[in-house]
Amino acid sequence: MERPLTQHIKNDGTWLNLKEYEKTGGYQALRKALSMPPEELTTLVKDSGLKGRGGAGFSTGMKWSFVPMGRKAPTPKYFVVNGDEMEPGSFKDRLLLEENPHQLIEGAIIGAYAIQANFSYIFLRWAYHRAAKAITQALQEAVEAGYLGENVMGSGFNLDMSLHISVGRYMCGEETALLNALEGKRANPRAKPPFPVVSGLFGKPTVVNNVETVSNVPHIIVNGAEWFLQLSKSEEGGTKLYGASGRVKTPGLWELPLGTTLRELLEVHAGGMQDGYNFKGALPGGGSTDFLTTEHLDVPMDFKNVEQAGSRLGTGTITVLDDKTCPVGMVRNLEHFFAQESCGWCTPCREGLPWTAKILDALEDGRGKMEDLDILTFQTRYMAPGNTFCALAPGAMEPLQSALKYFREDFEKHIHEHTCPWKS
Ligand SMILES: Cc1cc2nc3c(=O)[nH]c(=O)nc-3n(C[C@H](O)[C@H](O)[C@H](O)COP(=O)(O)O)c2cc1C
Ligand code: SF4
Repeated sequence: MERPLTQHIKNDGTWLNLKEYEKTGGYQALRKALSMPPEELTTLVKDSGLKGRGGAGFSTGMKWSFVPMGRKAPTPKYFVVNGDEMEPGSFKDRLLLEENPHQLIEGAIIGAYAIQANFSYIFLRWAYHRAAKAITQALQEAVEAGYLGENVMGSGFNLDMSLHISVGRYMCGEETALLNALEGKRANPRAKPPFPVVSGLFGKPTVVNNVETVSNVPHIIVNGAEWFLQLSKSEEGGTKLYGASGRVKTPGLWELPLGTTLRELLEVHAGGMQDGYNFKGALPGGGSTDFLTTEHLDVPMDFKNVEQAGSRLGTGTITVLDDKTCPVGMVRNLEHFFAQESCGWCTPCREGLPWTAKILDALEDGRGKMEDLDILTFQTRYMAPGNTFCALAPGAMEPLQSALKYFREDFEKHIHEHTCPWKS
């Protein structure tokens, strides 16, 4: 099984430096890319079927193709790597940032060349100190080697790339809020359209792509679209960094073919449930995705199939709920997080999330009433997609709405027994 993203990770506490990365074939993709017309690169990435790994699963090549090109296109243009990774339960980008920074940088240079951007930023989660060190060193090495800066590898293409450390809000990961943060403004999201590809950073065309998405790019350029497509078990191309946390025997992170089933991930790679615990459900891709349950264990974990099962692949990092953990308490913790991270711009989210968290507090403490379940259901509709300015609040409602659907009797037990059944 090929694992292009992680095959060279050393696991000895140090990241791949430039010399080591070059020995694995590093920067050959850039050499090849610079010899190709930019539009051809975009077509190649489109043909590979690469879908964004930041959550929404939008075609990467398609996104690049929307950037205005040619001599009349607005300048400067920007290529931004989204390494904010603050979704509860998600930890996949961290591995790539910390262990193979040059793979990411090479992908970002190719992306910037494809859209003819002369400026690039790596926007990094504030808490990822080791990643910050790795990227700082790698950027310096890349400049010294002529892969960045003026006249990249003698091609005539100029690219300036900087590391930007986030101020540490979940909201900063939303691409338009991220652009405001990069401009030094408060990280409120922006209205779309216009989309960043036509009016992004400082009002100029900007591509924002996730760390895992960008890290795939050098491999696609070297090996081609067909190779990438056949890596997966589904019609969507490539491998995926899947993770699992919760009461499984071996929590962790694995690069596997896209479309690997939830069952294989949990039973083979995560080693099954810990002794004395049974599987009750799982958030398949971070805290803002809907629960899947035992009936979904054979769902292939790709964008299309997880959506058909009523959830989202999201970040592909699975949070497992076991039968000895209170689902109400788990959802309560998530809603407190989302309420705290709301930017406060729109009323349903600013008022609705703290209200939701308070109701869940009451339920968990045995103070809940049956009407509370109706109010919670109302909240999930009040903050449905399209009713708020950005996707934070609808995302926050996903674990709640699915918990109400699959674990309703657990909510009712709290009300009838006036206590949390898991605590008594
Ligand atoms: C509240 C919120 C937080 C987000 N956080 C991240 C993040 O940390 N990293 C990320 O890549 N995308 C995040 N996204 C998705 C981005 O807005 C955007 O879709 C993504 O960076 C695009 O990259 P991709 O096309 O490569 O997936 C977030 C979205 C929302 C609504
Ligand atoms: S949904 Fe929440 S986070 Fe998004 S804009 Fe509205 S208040 Fe801000």
